[in-house]
Amino acid sequence: MKSFSLAALALVAPVHAGLRFGCSTLTIQRLDPVVEPGTVGTAHLHHIVGGNAFNATMEGDVGERGTCTTCEMAEDFSNYWTAVMYFKHPVNGSYIRVPVVNNAALARGTTGGMTVYYTQHDFNTDDLKNQKITAFKPGFRMTVGNPTWKSGEKNIGLRYNCLTTLINRGAEMADFPTRKCAAGIFAVHHFPACWDGKNLDSPDHQSHMYNSKVREGFVNAPKCPSSHPVRMPQVTYETVWDTTKFNSMWDPAKDKQPFVWSYERPGVAGGGYGTHADYLFGWQGDSLQRAMDKSECFYDGCGSIKKQTMDVANKCTVKTLVKENIDGWVKAMPGMENMV
Ligand SMILES: *[C@@H]1O[C@H](CO)[C@@H](O)[C@H](O)[C@H]1NC(C)=O
Ligand SMILES: *[C@@H]1O[C@H](CO)[C@@H](O)[C@H](O)[C@H]1NC(C)=O
Repeated sequence: MKSFSLAALALVAPVHAGLRFGCSTLTIQRLDPVVEPGTVGTAHLHHIVGGNAFNATMEGDVGERGTCTTCEMAEDFSNYWTAVMYFKHPVNGSYIRVPVVNNAALARGTTGGMTVYYTQHDFNTDDLKNQKITAFKPGFRMTVGNPTWKSGEKNIGLRYNCLTTLINRGAEMADFPTRKCAAGIFAVHHFPACWDGKNLDSPDHQSHMYNSKVREGFVNAPKCPSSHPVRMPQVTYETVWDTTKFNSMWDPAKDKQPFVWSYERPGVAGGGYGTHADYLFGWQGDSLQRAMDKSECFYDGCGSIKKQTMDVANKCTVKTLVKENIDGWVKAMPGMENMV
């Protein structure tokens, strides 16, 4: 997926079954049913896409309860979320949320949102050929990444690109770009794909899954280990953060890189530079399994998944439970005052 383009994809043969679709923004709120269930006004702000069963305490079979989704795949009531990017003014220290724009390659009408992938393999591998891919079960959830990650530490599957244009990504990097990006910052979250076969979740929301990658970034995932023998779809999120309007407000020659995640805390390890993402499975019935059982199809639902137009998807909403300023300049990011 590095320097990804449609042309590059077409050169990869054979193309295995894989889904790639857009989901508009559902809500931007301090809710997190995986890490802080029941809390209205969690520690930091999230950018959330997907089904309308989303709430602070959601559990069980989300696919059965959802009645609409912001995703193009109409049977997908899953929720996908990440932290939110902020710009921290280098002179006065105020913060403002960085807006999300849609990936230029997605269905027209996607607003903000994310690109979501479910692939059988990474794009450039077939060493798992003929291996069954098992869809997630109702109630399944996981996270990837570590908010306290520090520059220089291993950061498997989490990557940034400094966009030159909306379709030219340039090289992947492990940390925030330190130069100005002409078309924004592209953030990629790549989940592990090996499951222990038993647990829908785990206390740290990660140890029921295993990342068999030995190298970082988008490379072949070797066979799953015996501790986590079940090969699941490879879930990936891509988000385009429109940093362009802040380019005139900082000078890479003298200012520190000014973009942070919504959990930046002065003096706290990591300082808001690591990243993380949450996944909560919610496909209806066996729709995801049906797509994963196909081969030689990509992008289109593999002929088995109902799609909807984005003007229908964009009507899907959830209530705003946490009312606070998420648009203007603020002295502290939402939730910050509860930490320090
Ligand atoms: C949240 O979802 C759960 C089911 O997952 C439901 O039982 C509960 O009533 C919902 N809460 C609210 C406030 O809607
Ligand atoms: C910091 O600078 C921005 C941009 O000029 C401004 O809009 C904001 O109000 C300033 N914050 C404070 C606390 O002065």
